[in-house]
Amino acid sequence: MNPQKAHIICKDLFKIFKVADLEVVALRGLDLVVNRSEVVALVGASGSGKSTLLNILAGYDIPSAGQVTIDDRDLIDMKGREMEKFHREEVGFIWQEASRNLFPYLTSTENVELPMLLADTSNKERRERAAHLLNMVGMSHRLSHTPDQLSGGEQQRVAIAVGMANNPSLILADEPTGELDDKTAAEILDLFGEINRVNRTTIVIVTHDPDIAYKVGRVVVIKDGKTSSEISRQDTNVQISGQIDKEIPLQESLLVDSNGRVQIPEDLIETAGITNKVSAQIENHEIVIKPSINSKPESK
Ligand SMILES: Nc1ncnc2c1ncn2[C@@H]1O[C@H](COP(=O)(O)OP(=O)(O)O)[C@@H](O)[C@H]1O
Ligand SMILES: [Mg+2]
Repeated sequence: MNPQKAHIICKDLFKIFKVADLEVVALRGLDLVVNRSEVVALVGASGSGKSTLLNILAGYDIPSAGQVTIDDRDLIDMKGREMEKFHREEVGFIWQEASRNLFPYLTSTENVELPMLLADTSNKERRERAAHLLNMVGMSHRLSHTPDQLSGGEQQRVAIAVGMANNPSLILADEPTGELDDKTAAEILDLFGEINRVNRTTIVIVTHDPDIAYKVGRVVVIKDGKTSSEISRQDTNVQISGQIDKEIPLQESLLVDSNGRVQIPEDLIETAGITNKVSAQIENHEIVIKPSINSKPESK
């Protein structure tokens, strides 16, 4: 398996929700490439489109326009059964609300066995794999507990085992640590790190953790339905861990989309006094962007 091979490719992705007569543009030309076995954290303000993107990657929702391929397969072309099989067997999804990940009346073992049951795995294999996965997430002492008998962190551990049940090559997690205390959240990130190392699973995780750039290899910032910038750690092989490592230097880049567009951060726009027009020219082999002479004065 070539680790540098692209696992996820999103190109010029749009998602428009229609609510009564209103249209909400949740994704507006989003580009993203995630390599196989890579861990990418998605960050961005509430409403920027993170969950919409994850739902599309999981095959729960379809984009309004654009391309999305996972493992060279076009998600938009996938129909009914193929799609069901795809999101049951090839993607593990973990929601923020622990309760949404687990059936309340099933034990830890039964919750982990359920996706395998739907995938027609034999009884024996199901039992063995559920035990193995629950052991991996450190829950072998809670096999017969139902979710209400578990703490939030324990529920998320079981949820991760459920997500791994059919050995997916991709895990998508939407704010999986959002309801957890810092210590438990760090343990869950360490667990994702172990899953990535051992199984080479690609992981895309949405988070509000302000220190996330010190914990994952690459953070992609989503702004108004587009990827706008990314922060990557240099000189590290650690893909994700719960520990903050501020020794490793970070590199921040603005992303150039497939149409050559760049989102200039607001603080730079403000500092440079840019309003509605800029001129861009090459000076000393660098592009210099500054307000046009005839741009509108700032209206404040
Ligand atoms: N099912 C839906 N129907 C209508 N609007 C939606 C729906 N889901 C999300 N949106 C809207 O799309 C935008 C992006 O939402 P979302 O992807 O949930 O953002 P995030 O996860 O980054 O907070 C928001 O404006 C939200 O209100
Ligand atoms: Mg969300």
